[in-house]
Amino acid sequence: MHTGQGIPRERLPQLLARMPKAELHIHIEGSLEPELIFRLAQRNGVALPYASVEELRKAYAFSNLQSFLDIYYAGASVLITEQDFHDMAQAYLRRAAADNVVHAEIFFDPQTHTARGVGMDTVINGLHRACAEAQAESGITASLILCFLRHLSEEEAFETLEQALPHRDKFIGVGLDSSEVGHPPEKFAKVFARCRELGLHLVAHAGEEGPPAYVWTALDLLKVERIDHGVQSIKDPALMARLVKDRIPLTVCPLSNLKLCVFPKLEEHNIGRLLEAGIVATINSDDPAYFGGYLNDNFLQTFAATGLTLQQAYQLAANSFEASFADASVKRRYNDLLDETFASFE
Ligand code: HPA
Ligand code: ZN
Repeated sequence: MHTGQGIPRERLPQLLARMPKAELHIHIEGSLEPELIFRLAQRNGVALPYASVEELRKAYAFSNLQSFLDIYYAGASVLITEQDFHDMAQAYLRRAAADNVVHAEIFFDPQTHTARGVGMDTVINGLHRACAEAQAESGITASLILCFLRHLSEEEAFETLEQALPHRDKFIGVGLDSSEVGHPPEKFAKVFARCRELGLHLVAHAGEEGPPAYVWTALDLLKVERIDHGVQSIKDPALMARLVKDRIPLTVCPLSNLKLCVFPKLEEHNIGRLLEAGIVATINSDDPAYFGGYLNDNFLQTFAATGLTLQQAYQLAANSFEASFADASVKRRYNDLLDETFASFE
């Protein structure tokens, strides 16, 4: 355990960049950079409604979650072959390793692809191969979490689970993403119960734009182990107490929250208050190609805007390992690496 005492504040940016960390909230389709979108569109003969990379980037001005999702699903339409899914994940994992991300648990949205006639095998095999190669290349440990799209029906989620089960060994859990308000967790209670029986890890987006009530039902009805976003929990003291008592992690995404207008300014983000309340909060990038930054950008900009401390830097990295689904021995190894990094700065 390090407090950061003895490390000069000027070295904070370098320490944030250098410290080992886990990324637990990254949608792989949200790592698809405009350049790769255009390259894949050309490779696959897909027509895009944008003339250039610059024009596409200009469209990345969002007012809320839905305004982002519309463009995010359009961007994903260039992904057709197993190689496409591999190349997208390879690009993310190389970028993450450069930020000293040592462990990544990566969301993917199979329904976005199977609805267009792309096979489940194509999606999972391409992503999984990139994860295995990345571990051999940089040592990063990476695994996959299958997300159900909450704007679709529970029946469709069950069909998706059925299609994915031949690949049960290639993903560690399931999540719930897409349009939150109007699609509460309880809509997916049966399919999450089935996933629990199958021994899958369970997470869900809740309390990004939606109310604290959605965080409660994600916990009590879906029985999730982590909450993705969860920043609205701060409005409900009893919920905050529950998250602290049960050490339920929140995977917070500051630049995403800024770009989707969940907070008007990064200075007003509540990450500091969540940490001070004793919540196992983590920092993540969500959809880095769309929100203007990968993991270290999220750390650097959030610390610069909110004045988080060196001790909170240590806490956030330690929380990311605690909150991960890595084996205990792997967690120990990463915590030791974190301690060594802090010691080297003292
Ligand atoms: N929220 C919900 N669904 C998503 C997000 C998000 O932040 N990113 C990609 N799909
Ligand atoms: Zn997300």
